[in-house]
Amino acid sequence: MILKEFLKLTEGLSKLQQTMILEHVLQTDCSKIFLDLNFQFTDSNTRAIQAILKKLKTLQPLEYILGHAYFYNAKFQVNANVLIPRSETEVLVNYAIGLQPQTILEVGTGSGCIICTLAHELESTLLIASDISKPALQVAKSNAKLLRVKNIDFQEANLLGNLTLPKQIDLLIANLPYVDPDSYVASSTKLHEPHLALYSEEGGLNHIRRLLEQVQTSITEFTNILLEFGYGQEQEIQVICERILPQYDLTFFQDFNSVTRFCHLKLKNV
Ligand SMILES: C[S@@+](CC[C@H](N)C(=O)[O-])C[C@H]1O[C@@H](n2cnc3c(N)ncnc32)[C@H](O)[C@@H]1O
Repeated sequence: MILKEFLKLTEGLSKLQQTMILEHVLQTDCSKIFLDLNFQFTDSNTRAIQAILKKLKTLQPLEYILGHAYFYNAKFQVNANVLIPRSETEVLVNYAIGLQPQTILEVGTGSGCIICTLAHELESTLLIASDISKPALQVAKSNAKLLRVKNIDFQEANLLGNLTLPKQIDLLIANLPYVDPDSYVASSTKLHEPHLALYSEEGGLNHIRRLLEQVQTSITEFTNILLEFGYGQEQEIQVICERILPQYDLTFFQDFNSVTRFCHLKLKNV
């Protein structure tokens, strides 16, 4: 197979996905390969490419097939126990970095893409990350090792229940499941990504509501809370936040596509 044939076979994929396949198969930086349309793959490379394309036909996400995904310019291991990191979430991470928190708790860490990036970008003194899923925590721990971030305390917990926390935390950050079980979800996501990471009852808002109720009764004081939520959930999120946490100021912010997808709750008078 030559590059021109590969590009024809993968024309439905993005340039990033095509590059990910080539880098995986050739085990080298492929930035220059696109300049030579007649680049000849070896027989074994051709077989490897064909095997990947065959799996893609079954709607397996490319990131699970290759075992990694990119987030904030870093490579994260992923498997079917964790959600594939989404680029929108990078906006949430950027916002969190702007707050310069010294102490951070991430609830629902999955692959660890949020907490590992924050650990890498900030000199925070205390970083805790939790998930209800043991296999997800294993992936997050392994990503922390790969990225050489050593200072994260990973804990298995159902939201804030049974977490060991200090009395005050600068930032609680969470991208919890928020998909309404009755809503449309792309087939590859529905078939292959963990339902534990996707779906939440009450139209997708059960996890966020429960988390905020636990914040209200927690002996830990959270100065800032950052949440990611789904398309069109802004109004319901506003109602929930104002009802459960009236002692916080609420602001919303948008992702790269101008979709309101995040909120910032800031404790008043601090
Ligand atoms: C939408 S994924 C986000 C993963 C990762 N933080 C990211 O942004 O890519 C939600 C994560 O929350 C975890 N989760 C689901 N229910 C939970 C619960 N009750 N308590 C803690 N974590 C939970 C899932 O296992 C999953 O890893």
